[in-house]
Amino acid sequence: DFADIAHRPLFGKRVLVTAGPTHEAIDPVRYIANRSSGRQGFAIAAAAAEMGAEVTLVAGPVHLVTPPGVIRIDVETALEMHAEVEKALPSDVAIMVAAVADWRASDTPDQKIKKDGKGIPPLTLTENPDILASLAKHKNRPGLLIGFAAETEKIVEHAQAKLAKKGCDWIVANDVSGDVMGGANNAFHIVTKEGVESWPDSPKDVIARKLMERVADALAQG
Ligand code: CTP
Ligand code: CA
Repeated sequence: DFADIAHRPLFGKRVLVTAGPTHEAIDPVRYIANRSSGRQGFAIAAAAAEMGAEVTLVAGPVHLVTPPGVIRIDVETALEMHAEVEKALPSDVAIMVAAVADWRASDTPDQKIKKDGKGIPPLTLTENPDILASLAKHKNRPGLLIGFAAETEKIVEHAQAKLAKKGCDWIVANDVSGDVMGGANNAFHIVTKEGVESWPDSPKDVIARKLMERVADALAQG
C-alpha cells in the first residue's frame, strides 16, 4: 500500500544507473564490443526500485528483462549513453556500472568495408568521453556519484587513483584476479575518501541490495 511505499528507504530519491557494454561501429555491419553482461547494473537498478527510488537505467546492448518499476533507455554507443545520462539529470545518486568502450573508430564509412585486394584496412581509434568524469564536473552533479572498476591487481590502489582522477565519491572495485569463474579470492571494495570497506564476493543481487542500503544510509546522513 501507499503508506508502505512512502516508508521505503529510497522513497522520493532519483537514482540514475548505467549498465552493460557499448558497441562502437566500424562500418554498417561491424562493431567493437566488450564482454559486459549488464547483470550487475540491472541488479542495482532493481534493488533501487524495490527500495522506492525513481530509477532511470541507461542500458547498452544487452538481452535482459527490465526490472519492475524502472525507466529503461536503450543505447548503443558511448556518445549516445553520454547524451542520455545528461538528459536524465538531475539525480540524487548516479551509479555508473556500464563498461563504456574507451575508444571508438575514428571514421565509420557508410558502406561495408570490402575485402577488395587493397590490403588490410587500418583501424584508427578516437577516445570516447569519460561519462563519469564529466558528470563529476557537471553543473547538475548528482550529490552521490559512484563509479565501478574491475581490477586484476593492486585493487584498492587503482581504485583510489580512479576516485581522484574521475572526481566521484565512491568507487566500487571488483577484484577479478585469480579464478574469475567463482573463485574464493574475488571481493568487492567500496573505496571512498574516508576509507575502504571490503565485502566478500556474493551474487550480483546480494551485492546490489547491500550497495543500495549503503547508499540509503549515506543519503540519510546527509
Ligand atoms: N566510465 C565512463 N566513461 C568512460 C569510461 C569509463 O563513465 N568512457 C566509467 C565506468 O562506467 C566506471 C568507471 O568509469 O564506472 C571506471 O571505468 P574503468 O574502465 O575502470 O576506468 P578507465 O578510466 O577507463 O580506466 P581503465 O584504463 O582501467 O579502463
Ligand atoms: Ca575503461
